[in-house]
Amino acid sequence: MRVERTPGDTSRGASNIQNRGILMANEDQDQGERPDGGGSSHGGKAAHGDVDKGKRQFLAAATSAVGVAGVATLAVPFVKSLEPDASVAAAATTIADLTKVAPGMQMTVSWQDKPVIIVHRTPEMLKSLKEVTPDLADPNCEVPQQPPYAKNIYRARKPEWLVMVRVCTHLCCIPLYKPKPGTVEPNWDGGFHCPCHGSLYDLSGRVFKDVPAPRNMAIPEYEFIDDGSKVKITAMYPKAKLC
Ligand code: FES
Repeated sequence: MRVERTPGDTSRGASNIQNRGILMANEDQDQGERPDGGGSSHGGKAAHGDVDKGKRQFLAAATSAVGVAGVATLAVPFVKSLEPDASVAAAATTIADLTKVAPGMQMTVSWQDKPVIIVHRTPEMLKSLKEVTPDLADPNCEVPQQPPYAKNIYRARKPEWLVMVRVCTHLCCIPLYKPKPGTVEPNWDGGFHCPCHGSLYDLSGRVFKDVPAPRNMAIPEYEFIDDGSKVKITAMYPKAKLC
């Protein structure tokens, strides 16, 4: 289904997930002000100060998620940089318990100081991934933002499970999870909305055309363990870029 956009996104809200810790919800609510405190636009580049605010927000969200029940985080460094030392990053692994995520729900965990969203997609959500294809900038995932095993419309090892670094590829804000049809735009099929500058992604993190974000969100290296009841996030795919 084609998504129609109005010029100049007028939606307000913020990816204000500081202090929420692990998120397990059907949908993020728009609330508060945007990190830059101003009106939104689809095309504008943020000033340097906006970037800093976005990164501070990103770090606050990532660090607040550590240590919550249901997620075992091993050797996660508490650092204040988007690019942790390579040797430390290589050793950091996060294991998430999938039994706590019902169909349609999501969980966001901290992995190497990055928020990683895990979405349990329903058959209806999977169906929408085919319907939005004409509106996507890179529907077949030609840009290597994911490991080879995730180079498919689901961007996943298993279609029902999305495991993705929840960072907008424009300027590193944290997009809102908006799975309900019609919530962002009249013909919205569900996906992610970054209120910082109006970027839109589908339920696989594939970016729409004509938005500020230049590429799909990054999929990390991961594997299912314990008979598929848990997922282990192990590394950033080397060719993928956060923002
Ligand atoms: S950071 Fe600019 S649209 Fe997401």
